[in-house]
Amino acid sequence: MKMAVAVLLVLLIVALSSAIIAELPSAEAALDVRGHRRLKSMTVLSPPFFLRPGAVANKYYHDIAFPRGHVALKSFNGEVVDDRGAPVPLHEAYLHHWVVHPYYAATNATAAGRPATLPARNSGVCEGDTHGQYYGLGSETRRTATWVPDPYGVEAGDPAAPPEGYEERWMLNVHAIDTRGAADRMGCTECRCDLYNVTVDEHGRRIADDYAGGLLCCYDQTRCRVEEGFVDGEARKLFFRYTVMWLDWSDAVVPVKIYIFDATHRPLPVGCKVEYEVEECSPERRAKNDCVHVQVAKQVVPRGGDLVFGVAHQHAAGIGSSLHGQDGRLLCESIPTYGDGEEAGNEAGYIVGMSTCYHPAPGAVTVRDGETLTVVSNYSSERRHTGVMGLFYILVAEHQRPAPDTKPSLL
Ligand SMILES: *[C@@H]1O[C@H](CO)[C@@H](O)[C@H](O)[C@H]1NC(C)=O
Ligand SMILES: *[C@@H]1O[C@H](CO)[C@@H](O)[C@H](O)[C@H]1NC(C)=O
Ligand SMILES: *[C@@H]1O[C@H](CO)[C@@H](O)[C@H](O)[C@H]1NC(C)=O
Repeated sequence: MKMAVAVLLVLLIVALSSAIIAELPSAEAALDVRGHRRLKSMTVLSPPFFLRPGAVANKYYHDIAFPRGHVALKSFNGEVVDDRGAPVPLHEAYLHHWVVHPYYAATNATAAGRPATLPARNSGVCEGDTHGQYYGLGSETRRTATWVPDPYGVEAGDPAAPPEGYEERWMLNVHAIDTRGAADRMGCTECRCDLYNVTVDEHGRRIADDYAGGLLCCYDQTRCRVEEGFVDGEARKLFFRYTVMWLDWSDAVVPVKIYIFDATHRPLPVGCKVEYEVEECSPERRAKNDCVHVQVAKQVVPRGGDLVFGVAHQHAAGIGSSLHGQDGRLLCESIPTYGDGEEAGNEAGYIVGMSTCYHPAPGAVTVRDGETLTVVSNYSSERRHTGVMGLFYILVAEHQRPAPDTKPSLL
């Protein structure tokens, strides 16, 4: 009898400690500026993924641990850690990207005639499912602020949002490349098809000859060329560890909409192409010291308001990105920080952070309903680059009062 109790206790402790590893609510929940709403936080480990030298993991985790109930998200940060919880530097496990995306799941999975899941997405602006995430960054994660200034918050878990019979859930996509012993580290992180020895994509479709590199060539389980001595290298157990901070929803929170602009966007049928190529600059431009590739797109922001936060996403060789209003005015500029050391968060040659724009004062920076914005993404073209990106995230608080260019309703 005593034995059975002891076994049960051990089992209980094992169950409890694995739950704790998976979800670590911060011990000190801070007060917000007004001192009444409690800022809450959770730190979560993804399921493990395994990488040997040169290998790629592109994992999709559904129904991840996420704040429950109707909440205002305040920040989301993440990084790759090893099985001791130590941050892994980018030159070992390159974090190509991670993405956090809502979706709707049927509450009664056995009910006939209804799909098990329905898509959900942010407020725009790419067509279809492209860039529908709420959060997502890459190598720059460790030194990029995602904090939404007070009184703003990203609304999540609104019980009125899902269609009847569905509930909101969240999925996480993590794409990481093990570049220990890589034959060409930059080439592997840029997913150059020759280094991956890949001629067909994930779905077995032939990759066009003029596609030199990008996501089509570094899907899950592919492997980039490694130097001798690393070919039989052991797999390493890694995790994506993320921290979400939030407040319970209340009238004091001003909701912000998430819009993601993409410098590759072209009018339909093209839409957002997600990635692009930077050709090496011509000898003439090199002579003029002008090896800058400029990628520009125009996209319409459907609803205007205060632009309270902005940040760009670029890959290594990126030199800055900007977002402009229809009249050309600068709305936000986001500039990369490159590391200059070895340690996680400061890896030489990698973008380890992107500067952000904060405009919390109402009316400080505004966009109009239906305004055409221009996104500019600059890269160095000293060398050729494949699979680069030029995204611009903005958070917009819709005007509660009539916009200046609408007629006052009392007249
Ligand atoms: C789920 O749907 C099935 C089939 O329509 C139904 O028989 C069952 O009662 C439902 N369960 C709940 C909990 O609503
Ligand atoms: C590349 O792929 C081809 C076809 O799958 C294979 O025959 C060849 O050995 C591979 N080369 C290397 C270096 O792995
Ligand atoms: C992008 O490059 C253009 C042309 O060189 C330059 O005028 C602009 O200031 C650059 N913008 C950023 C954000 O680096």
